[in-house]
Amino acid sequence: MPWIVGVSGASGTPYAAAVLRALLEAGESVDLVVSRASRLTLLDETQIAFRDAHWQEDLREWLARGADGKPGSFDVDIARVRYWNAGDLAAGPSSGSYPVKGMLIVPASTACVAGVALGLSKDLLQRAASVTLKERRKLVVAVRETPLNGQTLRHLVTLDDLGATVVPASPAFYAGATHIQDLVDFVAGRVLDAAGVEHRLYRRWKGELGGGSGTRPT
Ligand SMILES: Cc1cc2nc3c(=O)[nH]c(=O)nc-3n(C[C@H](O)[C@H](O)[C@H](O)COP(=O)(O)O)c2cc1C
Repeated sequence: MPWIVGVSGASGTPYAAAVLRALLEAGESVDLVVSRASRLTLLDETQIAFRDAHWQEDLREWLARGADGKPGSFDVDIARVRYWNAGDLAAGPSSGSYPVKGMLIVPASTACVAGVALGLSKDLLQRAASVTLKERRKLVVAVRETPLNGQTLRHLVTLDDLGATVVPASPAFYAGATHIQDLVDFVAGRVLDAAGVEHRLYRRWKGELGGGSGTRPT
């Protein structure tokens, strides 16, 4: 069964790329939903204009790109990705009878957080998230905004109450980051931890102060 990965229009498309790469490396299948607004952040952050008609070509280029913007940094097989247009409310993930393991929203905009907390289902991404909650499947929400207003904080509490795991896109520095990619991979790794997917994206805390400095996963 696949994981649904929803990419909404918050800054942080490298987080989505890191999660997608790691899911595929772990042998998982992915149903990908890219919101309309996220095409703007993707364009801004990678200069890639994501096109429905050429999604495989554009996704390959996106996933190959490092967080430092360098093209061709990763070699990724996207054969196990199925892409759905965010306006396609008749798509598989809009029904609870469509078999999936759960859903990861990365990055999640505050608009998306609000839409899912209120059950708006304004597009396929939000509908799939509502379905994930009603089916009591795993929903991980990697919210990206700072500072947060009270409204968003209340929506995040609602999501937590409904069973979602809120994973703020907030990198930590104890794992010995030396590159932007390390910080991105830390957030992506915590998203996958919340989903219960194995990965080697960051070095885990081993209880020794200073143990992380300058080290990367081996
Ligand atoms: C370049 C750019 C960066 C943005 N970054 C954020 C962000 O970090 N967090 C956020 O909540 N919204 C951000 N926004 C605003 C969202 O894209 C906007 O609220 C949009 O309606 C979200 O729609 P979606 O949830 O359907 O993707 C950004 C917009 C642009 C154009």
